[in-house]
Amino acid sequence: MNILILGSGGREHALAWAVKQNPKTDRLIVAPGNAGIAQLAECADLDIMDGAAVVGFCEANAIDFVIVGPEAPLAAGVADATRAAGFLTFGPSAAAAQLEASKGFTKAICDACGAPTAAYARFDQAAAAKDYVRATGAPIVVKADGLAAGKGVIVAMNEAEALSAIDDMFGGEFGAAGAEVVIEEFMTGEEASLFVLTDGVNALPIGTAQDHKRVGDGDTGPNTGGMGAYSPAPVLTDEITERAMREIVLPTIAEMARRGTPFQGVLYAGLMIKDAQGRLVEYNARFGDPETQVLMLRLGAQALDLLLACAEGRLNSAQVNWADDHAMTVVMAAKGYPGAYEKGSVINGLDRMPEDSRHMTFHAGTASEDGRIVSNGGRVLNITARGATLEEARNRAYAMIDHLNWPEGFCRSDIGWRALS
Ligand code: AMP
Ligand code: GLY
Repeated sequence: MNILILGSGGREHALAWAVKQNPKTDRLIVAPGNAGIAQLAECADLDIMDGAAVVGFCEANAIDFVIVGPEAPLAAGVADATRAAGFLTFGPSAAAAQLEASKGFTKAICDACGAPTAAYARFDQAAAAKDYVRATGAPIVVKADGLAAGKGVIVAMNEAEALSAIDDMFGGEFGAAGAEVVIEEFMTGEEASLFVLTDGVNALPIGTAQDHKRVGDGDTGPNTGGMGAYSPAPVLTDEITERAMREIVLPTIAEMARRGTPFQGVLYAGLMIKDAQGRLVEYNARFGDPETQVLMLRLGAQALDLLLACAEGRLNSAQVNWADDHAMTVVMAAKGYPGAYEKGSVINGLDRMPEDSRHMTFHAGTASEDGRIVSNGGRVLNITARGATLEEARNRAYAMIDHLNWPEGFCRSDIGWRALS
């Protein structure tokens, strides 16, 4: 098969790596890709937000299967365009991607299907939103309704913070994403993520993970896109996972189908776990980054078969071949991230890193310059390892980092601390 993956981060490198292991793959193209992806696939310069351009590319290159990585093209209808043109596609329609692209939409779905989630209210005026905050009190969570690159959520520990977040959102800080605001009950507990493939009718859980959002050791400092992750998430026991499937994920899939907008792709459920129950924090309509890096290292070549079964509507007969293993990924970021950082520093030592079914370095933000790999983003590398225990995976990942010579980069030293302590 000729396979096209859309995206350019560590998530897409991990997807490409897994797809490439599968003998069904003849030609693998990633658009636009990055310097690490270029070592295992062709990279193509293509505007992945432009559905017509993607369709044209698929026609010109006899593509058999399209895998959409990030949320922005999904929300823009790129999967609708490729499917309408007859190309087998993994990823939801724009209508179904509303589960990620609109927090208010997701809340309405939860109401309709009875899925446990935080109590909430929706506002399109600052004054009413502020009255609600004053009446409810803090801590409280203020969210821009739309896609805001992971930055549109303010967990306000006091009322003043919540009121100023409301001003920021209606003041245009998140552009159109903040035209509507969702205000939520602050939930306590432990967060974990559940990844479920669905073809619109059938559902197949393919793994759990936990990530570390804060930049500093001990989960301190500003929020980031994620500084590391591990799988499985010990807090998501079989029992709690089964309950979350029954109470949250399956009712959501049924409600989306009932509305005539079935969700086909991966449903990434962010859960808050407390008292043996998960409550929904949010949905994403795509794989997590960096969670995909640990999921793909664990699944390997079968990932392609699962994504194909999903896109072809035959998940009822698909199953995951589980290995009793653990994986961890440690993010190497450019110093300064998530604030200002420099691009273009040379990364040495990558050739000394082991690369096999237990060790992989996925590139998140790199470029190639005069035959050298240089940083080209905030999150730059995802050092990923697998082991029989989480401790073994952790030790392998950090041992890989010892080979690296990149003074302009840094990582957290305590990924997995909660699960390991
Ligand atoms: P989201 O983009 O909705 O995942 O929100 C980002 C982060 O904010 C989540 O991963 C949680 O850590 C936190 N968060 C979001 N909503 C809530 C809530 N209702 N209660 C507590 N924390 C929340
Ligand atoms: N790691 C968080 C996300 O992919 O949204």
